Amino acid sequence: MRLIITTMAIIVAIWLIPFVLSDESGLKFGWPYSVFFTLATLFGGFLFYLLRMPPMGPFTSSRRAIGSVVLVFLVSIGIITLLANVSPQFAFEGAATAGATAEERGKAVFNDPKVGCFLCHTVQGAGGTRGPDLTHIATVAANRKPGMSAQDYLKESLENPGAYVVPSFDNIMPPVAKALSPEAFSDLMTYLKALK
Ligand code: HEC
Repeated sequence: MRLIITTMAIIVAIWLIPFVLSDESGLKFGWPYSVFFTLATLFGGFLFYLLRMPPMGPFTSSRRAIGSVVLVFLVSIGIITLLANVSPQFAFEGAATAGATAEERGKAVFNDPKVGCFLCHTVQGAGGTRGPDLTHIATVAANRKPGMSAQDYLKESLENPGAYVVPSFDNIMPPVAKALSPEAFSDLMTYLKALK
């Protein structure tokens, strides 16, 4: 019983974290995260409840055993696939749109904690180091792939980062383009192309 209470207390504590974090932490994922985590918490509680039920009798045939495993597998994969289709990644709704010029707005998108580019990339000395320094990305992008323009390379980097993985870095960049509105994407492109 004590184990259950401790575990539930930990789960609730984790559940509360996003509410107390500041926007700058980059760890706020918005309401889809809270809904998802709440459901996961309730499901976890349900599993504890199941622990108290009498154990299930042995399977009467191997066909039934295999059938149950296949059924559970298909249902889980089905639910996950459905969720992924209904809500492909968390969209960065309302990603920074302040700024007079496309370049300024693009810079705001880049530095928006909800989008998180700066958490992995440095521009002019500020930012993370998990990804390459982007201070001169426009120049770099023009020379990355022979025959590919800076515009096309940048677009590919945001849509399908795994297509070219910069040497000595890991293939960990998310396909950010999918989660941006067309306007935010185009502003971001303008900003990156200005980093010569
Ligand atoms: C989780 C960390 C992470 C986040 C968040 C992230 N990136 Fe990246 N990015 C990387 C890594 C690591 C690489 C190098 C590996 C690769 O090429 O896929 C990279 C590569 C790139 C490149 C190609 C760089 C080059 O030198 O060829 C561009 C451009 C880029 N990111 C832009 C962005 C922008 C813009 C955002 C925000 C919308 C962003 N990244 C968000 C980690 C990240």
